[in-house]
Amino acid sequence: MFAATALSGSKPEQYAQLLQQAHGLLQGERDRVANAANLSALIHNTLPELNWSGFYFFDGTELVVGPFQGLPACVRIPLDRGVCGAAARTRQTQRVADVHAFPGHIACDAASRSELVVPLVVPGDGGEHTLIGVLDLDSPVPDRFDDDDQRGLEALARVYLESLA
Ligand code: SME
Repeated sequence: MFAATALSGSKPEQYAQLLQQAHGLLQGERDRVANAANLSALIHNTLPELNWSGFYFFDGTELVVGPFQGLPACVRIPLDRGVCGAAARTRQTQRVADVHAFPGHIACDAASRSELVVPLVVPGDGGEHTLIGVLDLDSPVPDRFDDDDQRGLEALARVYLESLA
């Protein structure tokens, strides 16, 4: 049985520990739904002050909700909508300190005040990049995510993508 251990030390040290746990959790399994389910559960139960943690997968047209922890969410997000759409469209992490100030923000959970969305992109054979989806973290605390969180969650997204290879 997998046992998540409490994180300790500085924030970068805590993310290093979480990364190790994620490696252990996803090791030996390549199924994208199984690994997204377990990684969202690990993140949501380990990091403080989150009200939604999970995945949207790109179906070739729009984002479709995948495994997550939190309240039921919007099922489909067009790429021109919301923070998730912006991350998918630009393929850049979106860190939003105040979601109320973000044009087009989609309020799935009224409690959400800040958000971090990491695009999930894999390099293709011909040098092109393929969008798989996004990893979306929501917090009820304004300005919840800082540089350490962005770096840590981008590293966790890479562990997820590597697990699928
Ligand atoms: N707030 C997101 C929508 C997804 S939910 O937060 C789960 C957005 O604006 O992209």
